[in-house]
Amino acid sequence: MTRELSAADIAKRAAAKEAVALVEDGMRLGLGTGSTAAWYVELLAERVKAEKLNVIGVPTSVRTGKQAESLGIKLTTLDEAGWLDLTVDGADEFDPDLNLIKGGGGALLQEKIVATASDRVVILTDPTKQVESLGAFPLPVEVIPFGWETTRAIIEDLLETLDVDGRETVLRMNKDEPYLTDCGHFIIDLHLKRIGDAEELSDALNRIAGVVENGLFIDIADEIIVGHEDGTADVIVYEDEDED
Ligand code: A5P
Repeated sequence: MTRELSAADIAKRAAAKEAVALVEDGMRLGLGTGSTAAWYVELLAERVKAEKLNVIGVPTSVRTGKQAESLGIKLTTLDEAGWLDLTVDGADEFDPDLNLIKGGGGALLQEKIVATASDRVVILTDPTKQVESLGAFPLPVEVIPFGWETTRAIIEDLLETLDVDGRETVLRMNKDEPYLTDCGHFIIDLHLKRIGDAEELSDALNRIAGVVENGLFIDIADEIIVGHEDGTADVIVYEDEDED
C-alpha cells in the first residue's frame, strides 16, 4: 500500500533521501529526533535492509531509539561507539552561518551531545526554517527541576541585559504537568523574537547553575539539506570565509 504524503512530508522525505545517500558501510551514525529525522531513520532502514549495510546507530531520544529498533537498525550507546562518523538531525531554524535553534521536540541535550561527537553533522530542513537571524522560534532551555523557578528568574534577569526583542519565558507543559525530557529535566522556552548575538546568549545561559543546555547549535552543522514540496532538495555547505 502506498501512503498519500502531504506536501510537508514530501519535502521532509526529499531531504532525508539526500542524507541517506551519504551513509557508507561500517559507519557509526547519530540518529536525530523529530518528524524530519524520523523520515531519515525510515529510509536508512530501507537502505540497510536492501544493501545489508553494517552500520550502527546512536539515537538521540527514546522515541528515535524505538523507531530505529522496530525497523531493524542496530543500536548502541554513545559511550560504546565513542565517536560517530555522521549525524543526521532536523532543526527548528537555521541562519546564513548554519547556526541552529533545536529542541522543539525536547531532545536538544542528547542531540547536542551526539552532534558534537560526530565527524560530520547534516541537518534536514525545509525553506520555512531559513531565517536571517535566529529567534522567531522559541529557544528551548533545558533546566534542572530543583529550583527551576529561581533558574527562570535568573534567565529573565539575564535577558534584560541582552540584545533580544522578546523576553517572555514559558515552562513547557505536557497536559497539566511540566514536560520532562528523556533525562528528567524541564524545558523553559524563551520567546525572544530576534537574537542579536547567539553565541553571547548561549554562553551566558550555560553559565547559569540550573541550566543544563540550550537549543542554540553554533558552529555544529556542516551542511543543511533543504527539502522542497516538489520532491527536490538543495544542499547548503558552510564555507568559512577566513579560510583560503
Ligand atoms: C528535536 O528535539 C528537535 O531538535 C528537532 O530536530 C526539531 O524540533 C525539528 O523537528 P521537525 O523535524 O519535527 O520539524
